[in-house]
Amino acid sequence: MVTLLENPLRVGLQQERTAEPAILVIFGASGDLTQRKLVPAIYQMKRDRRLPPETTIVGVARREWSHDYFREQMREGIEQFSDGIGSEEMWEEFAQGLYYCPGDIDKPESYQKLKAFLGELDGKRGTRGNRVFYLSVSPKFFPEAIRQLGSAGMLADSVKNRLVIEKPFGTDLSSAQKLNRVVQQVCKEQQVYRIDHYLGKETVQNLLVFRFANAIFEPLWNRQFVDHVQITVAETVGVEDRAGYYESSGALRDMVQNHLLQVFCLTAMEPPNSLDADSIRTEKMKVLQATHLADINNLENSAVRGQYSAGWMKGKPVPGYREEPGVNPNSTTPTYVAMKLLIDNWRWQGVPFYLRTGKRLPKKVSEIAIQFREVPLLIFQSAAQQANPNVLTLRIHPNEGISLRFEGKMPGPSLRTRTVDMDFSYGSSFGISTSDAYDRLLLDCMRGDQTLFTRADEVEEAWRVVTPALSAWEAPTDPASIPQYEAGTWEPTEAEHLINRDGRRWRRL
Ligand code: BG6
Repeated sequence: MVTLLENPLRVGLQQERTAEPAILVIFGASGDLTQRKLVPAIYQMKRDRRLPPETTIVGVARREWSHDYFREQMREGIEQFSDGIGSEEMWEEFAQGLYYCPGDIDKPESYQKLKAFLGELDGKRGTRGNRVFYLSVSPKFFPEAIRQLGSAGMLADSVKNRLVIEKPFGTDLSSAQKLNRVVQQVCKEQQVYRIDHYLGKETVQNLLVFRFANAIFEPLWNRQFVDHVQITVAETVGVEDRAGYYESSGALRDMVQNHLLQVFCLTAMEPPNSLDADSIRTEKMKVLQATHLADINNLENSAVRGQYSAGWMKGKPVPGYREEPGVNPNSTTPTYVAMKLLIDNWRWQGVPFYLRTGKRLPKKVSEIAIQFREVPLLIFQSAAQQANPNVLTLRIHPNEGISLRFEGKMPGPSLRTRTVDMDFSYGSSFGISTSDAYDRLLLDCMRGDQTLFTRADEVEEAWRVVTPALSAWEAPTDPASIPQYEAGTWEPTEAEHLINRDGRRWRRL
């Protein structure tokens, strides 16, 4: 067996780099993401000694908070949204590395003040000029923040200065290209970490291991054996308090262009030459380049949108999307999208990939289901109606794991078959629950490993794939024409037609 591990150039997912002492500067530090995800993730990693003790966090936002007030807010976040602070000593040690620097995104003087402050901290904390700038602000501020960081010379060192950009990266192809140009004017691609938290999920990464560390699946992973693939990301939550953002985003921008297409790429890509960031990203890029909506001339044959109407979730009545606070009562924003994609390459020619995602569906469940072809001839005549095709399911959430569905003989004198499952579950095999995606992504960024982040060309290509649907749905539409599905049910009938038309049906999860 050939191994790539000895080659020092091939560093990536397979090898642990160590993180250098650094300052993580979070723009938008008074926001939800900082308190719920980012700081609790860093705290957990410090507790596990996965980050050097010098690691320092500086929160930046407009509010005039003191260091102490910021510390209190972060402590609350850790207590509420993670396993808690553990011991007081641990918290005290962590809190000493937490700072706050008020500033305005559009004021050059704020960046000068921040720069001087970071310089001071380098001396005090031993962070050696290493900086990770994390933009956790509203996307409309991304270009301004990037330009200002550039003008202040804070991204000048392409090794020590890194830039993390939260999603969404643009709102369509041209805005993503524009944003990429802003980024490229002030830094090199090797400094840029475009976040897609789905790539940080353990089970999504396991897809690579499953496909490329096992010999028995790869020979089946193609048009000869696979009938079709279904990728589902279903959520039970509604729009919550995010109408301001969601109204102009909708499920296509919020979930499909990024999370679903990333999972799709990892499912469909060719084996990379190695696990270094660019080999993987190049293979993902090739898949996207070959991908298109199944029927570009008739959008309804390749993409369906929907919106939840009032219904019931867990026995409680819930409002429809248009009745949610902050939502336009005539909104045409989709909260559900189903799509049929085709990939024009040797491996996948003619194999449909059906993607669907929605809010207020009956269950929170994310999975990839590879459905294999039927047997060429069924010799068990009497059991004909019971012979289901094999399905390999990679469960991203909940009950993370993998299962293979096949037919078995039911015990007894007659020859009757029944569908059974062979199951692997993370929980029972490894005895630990999978960690939060932000841990992994922040750690990788601090180590300088870009494998789990999207590259400029990849992000643009993903926008290209969804552009026909985006443009058609952007056109003024009669609100009455938007397919509705009752909250707590699976999908609008139009989405059923999308797949039923091909003689297939959505999995009931
Ligand atoms: C976010 C979207 O990126 O992903 C949310 O903005 C969505 O609308 C969330 O709820 C889903 O993530 P997860 O990890 O809970 O499946």
